[in-house]
Amino acid sequence: MEIILETQKLSRDFKIGDGSVVSALKNVSITMEKGQLTILRGRSGSGKTTLINILGALDQPTSGKVLFKGKDITQFSEKKRDEIRRFDMSFVFQSVALISSMTAYENVEFGLRLAKIPYDQRAESAKEALAAVGLEKRMHHMPGEMSGGEQQRVAIARAIAHKPAVVFADEPTAELDTVTGLHVVKLFKDLVAQRGMTIIMTTHDPSMMDVADQVYTLEDGEIVE
Ligand SMILES: Nc1ncnc2c1ncn2[C@@H]1O[C@H](COP(=O)(O)OP(=O)(O)O)[C@@H](O)[C@H]1O
Ligand SMILES: [Mg+2]
Repeated sequence: MEIILETQKLSRDFKIGDGSVVSALKNVSITMEKGQLTILRGRSGSGKTTLINILGALDQPTSGKVLFKGKDITQFSEKKRDEIRRFDMSFVFQSVALISSMTAYENVEFGLRLAKIPYDQRAESAKEALAAVGLEKRMHHMPGEMSGGEQQRVAIARAIAHKPAVVFADEPTAELDTVTGLHVVKLFKDLVAQRGMTIIMTTHDPSMMDVADQVYTLEDGEIVE
């Protein structure tokens, strides 16, 4: 097994309006393996989004380290962090952020353009990613013609098309019904098992835990057993 991400004594404080401090993360030390589906679970307000944003180089901790492939990315320049976000990592969010005037295919192709994938490789990569999420037959449809679950699958295709080292998903099932949500998680499981992807997702839904290779539980910013 190869560790792809590791946190060491990660803490994140937020100063709020009245001058007091919220400790959103306290001393979080965890490891995440390459080629696995890791779930970060916990109630609303337990620190899941704060943690996944720091892992994905969107936010910086107050103290502690984030090792990505052995290197502490909290110490990298903003330019280097931006490169990591663009080329090595990708995000799937709770509310699907597709461009409504573009077809599913065009949304995925546009993501590849942002990741600077050369023009002559984009069509094949986009089609392959859409096939991997089971949408090859619907790729020329507009988001408005698709169900919530299908739109989330387009967002997942966009996140995986450039083959990032890690995909982060912050409560990707929260706006879906239970059955559709389970399909999305099952899809993550297949992407990990069949394509060797590394996926880290947050959820507050206990019914999702069975599919994970590894589960960490957060309570008030701390990892508990
Ligand atoms: N930008 C912020 N400013 C102030 N407090 C924040 C901010 N972001 C998160 N928090 C606080 O940190 C704690 C953890 O929040 P969050 O990571 O969003 O939890 P979760 O994703 O598990 O619901 C909460 O108490 C929340 O209010
Ligand atoms: Mg959250």
